[in-house]
Amino acid sequence: MRKQLKLRLLFFSILISLGIYFCAIAQNPQKTIVNGGNYTDTSGKIINAHGGGFLKAGKYYYWIGENRHDQVLVSCYRSTDLINWEFRGDLLTRQSNPELVNANIERPKVIYNEKTKKFVMWMHYEISSDYSYARAAVAVSDDIEKPFKYLKSFRPFGNMSRDCTLFKDTDGTAYFLSAARENYDMMVYKLTDDYLDTKEHLLTLWPGGHREAPALVKRGDYYFMITSGCTGWAPNQAKYAYAKSIRGPWSDLTDIGNSTTFDSQSTYILPIEGNETTSYLYVGDRWDGNHYFNSRYIFLPLTFKGETSVELSWKDSVAPDLKSGRIN
Ligand code: DGJ
Repeated sequence: MRKQLKLRLLFFSILISLGIYFCAIAQNPQKTIVNGGNYTDTSGKIINAHGGGFLKAGKYYYWIGENRHDQVLVSCYRSTDLINWEFRGDLLTRQSNPELVNANIERPKVIYNEKTKKFVMWMHYEISSDYSYARAAVAVSDDIEKPFKYLKSFRPFGNMSRDCTLFKDTDGTAYFLSAARENYDMMVYKLTDDYLDTKEHLLTLWPGGHREAPALVKRGDYYFMITSGCTGWAPNQAKYAYAKSIRGPWSDLTDIGNSTTFDSQSTYILPIEGNETTSYLYVGDRWDGNHYFNSRYIFLPLTFKGETSVELSWKDSVAPDLKSGRIN
């Protein structure tokens, strides 16, 4: 009888310890972003926000990107430290609109429109396995954490539209950049005031240059853009360019990082504005084209030298300090 009681006690104490252990794993905040690792959210699940973008809304940073599990297309995570991310929901699913039932959504980016008070998402909409559909698509929501309303897909000014990004300038003007003409050209479009359409085709950048994965940021008087070459899911040498105006002239392309961009492809440049400085975090996807859900992320500080030169070096882990603006 006493033996049985002892066994029971042992069984329950093991159960309780296991419970405490798993709760601790799920709730213990991470102190750094470990580059290329199994990046998990606050519930311990792998983060699925590939080809994603970031924005600040209220007291949170949001990370929105491709999910691609079953019926899910775009997912949303939020964070107060850019290290620990809480899953907040799916913004677009195959059920959001009949046009999405068989679609592939890539590189979703979201910006906020102050005039309409709406969050606007632009993305690459694809239904062909050879990427020949090549359209831009737009969705909208009043609440960044709630499902978006899918509006349409189209080709801006009749141009193919594949890898893309959105950029909102300090004056509220927004731009959509996307790879056109079988990825030969990188287009820059100005958006309408409500951000729901393209208003003007501003530029055809580096015609024949074969650039993908655009990421754009403004620092001081200059706009910087990082793009990759076009090698499918395999990484290649990223290049950057700069300009004093989005309308150009843009500089020639200069190599940045190593020959594989540390096994990544650009998706976003995230400014971290603190009370000491503003730093810039390069965010790249480490794609696994054969096993898409093994794709990982890397976050690396961009080091600016003077006004127009920028470098990218490897770090095993990073810890953005939102207070100072430094990246440790
Ligand atoms: C690289 C692109 O940047 C990705 O978004 C995706 O389109 C793959 N190519 C597909 O090969």
